[in-house]
Amino acid sequence: MLISARRLKRCQFLQILTTCFVLSLMLMWVQDDNDFVNHIKSYSYRYLINSYDFINESLSITHGNSDGTRNYKYLMTNQDKCQNEDVLLLLFVKTSPENRKRRDAIRRTWGNELYIRSQHAANIKVVFALGIDSDPVKSRIVQRELVAENTRYNDLIQQDFLDTFHNLTLKLLLQFGWVNSYCSNAKFVMSADDDIFIHTPNLVSYLKMLDLIGVQDFWIGRVHRGSPPIRHKKSKYYVSYEMYPWASYPDYTAGAAYVVSRDVAAKVYEASQTLSTNLYIDDVFMGICANKVGVVPQYHVFFSGEGKAPYHPCIYSKMITSHGHLDDIDYLWRQATDPKVYSLTSGFLGDMYCKFVKIMLLCRIHYVETYPCSAAWS
Ligand SMILES: *[C@@H]1O[C@H](CO)[C@@H](O)[C@H](O)[C@H]1NC(C)=O
Ligand SMILES: *[C@@H]1O[C@H](CO)[C@@H](O)[C@H](O)[C@H]1NC(C)=O
Repeated sequence: MLISARRLKRCQFLQILTTCFVLSLMLMWVQDDNDFVNHIKSYSYRYLINSYDFINESLSITHGNSDGTRNYKYLMTNQDKCQNEDVLLLLFVKTSPENRKRRDAIRRTWGNELYIRSQHAANIKVVFALGIDSDPVKSRIVQRELVAENTRYNDLIQQDFLDTFHNLTLKLLLQFGWVNSYCSNAKFVMSADDDIFIHTPNLVSYLKMLDLIGVQDFWIGRVHRGSPPIRHKKSKYYVSYEMYPWASYPDYTAGAAYVVSRDVAAKVYEASQTLSTNLYIDDVFMGICANKVGVVPQYHVFFSGEGKAPYHPCIYSKMITSHGHLDDIDYLWRQATDPKVYSLTSGFLGDMYCKFVKIMLLCRIHYVETYPCSAAWS
């Protein structure tokens, strides 16, 4: 009895010590804002705050500003896209009116539905989500071009809100609203930026496997754990205390690319209808919705961060996404889907060789925002 009480005290003492240490680290670095420091901060917050129950009440619409402007009119719907089909993956690409070149590149590479159906026996649907051009001078011409583009490809979905950075949460509502109305039969739903490369063959075979198991409550991507809101007024991601008063966001996946299962898409949609959309950072907003319905994100090591993945067959054989591809997207698609990749990386020797290569490429002292070192072992 006596011993266990003493041990308990020692435990408590240790915990207080750790907490003090973490707090002092946070205070020391509160002014600083580089990557490494942000990581330490995130993990500190994560240690101190383990539950986000507090968020539930206060961001609801009834508590925030009244929010009558969330239901924007559809200008392009393509509501028949998923009808009567067995859809494995519905893939939203968040795009902007002026990014025609990016959309065309995606259509002829990783977003090519026919290629995936014929080569990988999977039914995917790729749609581009966008608002209207924010430049009032150009907007009518641009809109006419968009209508022509849609007549040709039937893959744009658009509502009449201005397509701006600060309206990204409206774009998120557009996506989840559209799934709910027109594609609730899709087994998985993905949201991605238009400057990303997705290895759709790898993704599809991964999702097929998950579908066999029948996963639920599934949400995967590159997870940000306990990130603190940025309070520097000059930052693109500045968030005021009125908008979000707490010290850390709930866990969320980077908006560049994430995948959810059908049930999560439905739950997030329901939650999104009850929350104030003032928070314009769409991936954080998604995190708050998911937190509200009790869904937590899982980390997948082959969803990249801000950086490009290294160009190498050993990487291609595993990669899911890589960020920042514009001019090299055709090249990367050709390389990544070359049959050589499989012959080079399979078997015992291929395995050993690739482990070595991945360690050399990913386990660097200088932190690069691609895949973590742990990806070398998976
Ligand atoms: C978002 O879109 C609405 C509707 O077009 C527009 O009134 C508003 O100014 C936009 N907000 C921002 C921050 O761009
Ligand atoms: C959020 O709060 C409401 C009460 O306003 C409660 O009914 C609901 O269960 C709460 N949700 C979670 C996930 O705790």
